[in-house]
Amino acid sequence: MATKLFSPLTIKNITLKNRIAISPMCQYSAIDGFANDWHLVHLGSRASGGAGLIIQEATAVSPEARISPSDLGIWKDEHIEKLKQINAFIVSQNSIPGIQLAHAGRKASVSAPWLGNKKLDFAQGGWQTVAPSAIPYHEGEPFLPEELDKNGIQKVISDFKTATKRVVEAGYQVVEIHAAHGYLLHQFLSPLTNVRTDEYGGSFENRIRFTLEVVEAVQSEWPSDLPLFVRISATDWAENGWNPEESVQLSKILKEKGVDLIDVSSGGLVSHQKITLGPGYQVPFAEKVKAEANIATGAVGLITEAEQAEEILNLDQADLILFARESLRNPNLPLDFAAALNDDIQWPKQYERAKL
Ligand SMILES: Cc1cc2nc3c(=O)[nH]c(=O)nc-3n(C[C@H](O)[C@H](O)[C@H](O)COP(=O)(O)O)c2cc1C
Repeated sequence: MATKLFSPLTIKNITLKNRIAISPMCQYSAIDGFANDWHLVHLGSRASGGAGLIIQEATAVSPEARISPSDLGIWKDEHIEKLKQINAFIVSQNSIPGIQLAHAGRKASVSAPWLGNKKLDFAQGGWQTVAPSAIPYHEGEPFLPEELDKNGIQKVISDFKTATKRVVEAGYQVVEIHAAHGYLLHQFLSPLTNVRTDEYGGSFENRIRFTLEVVEAVQSEWPSDLPLFVRISATDWAENGWNPEESVQLSKILKEKGVDLIDVSSGGLVSHQKITLGPGYQVPFAEKVKAEANIATGAVGLITEAEQAEEILNLDQADLILFARESLRNPNLPLDFAAALNDDIQWPKQYERAKL
């Protein structure tokens, strides 16, 4: 039976063989930003597992843009070689390599999750973080982020631009700009973290300015025939925060600017957020953005079953389904899901004797 989940999706010059994307997931396994064989195997096995699109983890546009010292980076030309090798493998599996470009802002300079996700001071290899306003993530935290001045803002925008130049060289075919989860772009969007009084703070138009300038900087290097995604948090799950209506307004503007898909996530901005969790809990936001901003969306968050993913697509709530934790449990999730939905897809020839 032909399913929506395993139908191709064409965006600009790229055709994904199915609607399954691997959601960006930090591996905290890089040294000085460099990818290594862990990233090759992690991303490569999900490509051989049948996903149409693999979005590489939040990749830092500068050293201070990293969440932890072990994040991937693309701030120097030397990073390109290994990334190129990984992308060539992904393409050899008939999958599309994508990358998420990111700046962690005030959430930077922490240890990896398995080391406690703790703020690192200078002696521990940490660095001065930056943000739209000098407000820390945790109230009473001793390490305040530094408020970015105009030069600082221009430097970050230019870092996104030069990073994109390297992204092209490394052979990625999709770029996603990370404007979600409380990282730097999201910090500018939300009035909870942005109390600036210049043209980057205050009104909705001012708060979205930085994100739009980053999008333009990426577009100045990114081929116009390749897909550009933006990941947003549709709500802060906190009073007086960024909200779904503003997400729709921003998505309309991004669409006009030539962004192809909004990857709709939520939360991550403030420690007092109150999230209502449940299967597919963010899908209604993807549906709202798709319907009201008339732009393609990706749905993500507690989507774990084939029938659930198929239904989201059939109800026209989203165009693409992103899987994170379920794809860590099962790198061959697409192969299994095709069997569950009675669809017949091509398995890697090396694995054909195991085909269900
Ligand atoms: C280990 C891990 C690392 C993650 N790293 C990123 C990241 O780099 N960028 C991002 O936008 N989201 C990141 N996320 C969030 C996921 O992409 C996804 O949005 C979230 O886990 C919800 O989807 P799920 O329920 O399928 O796991 C990460 C999640 C996990 C579990």
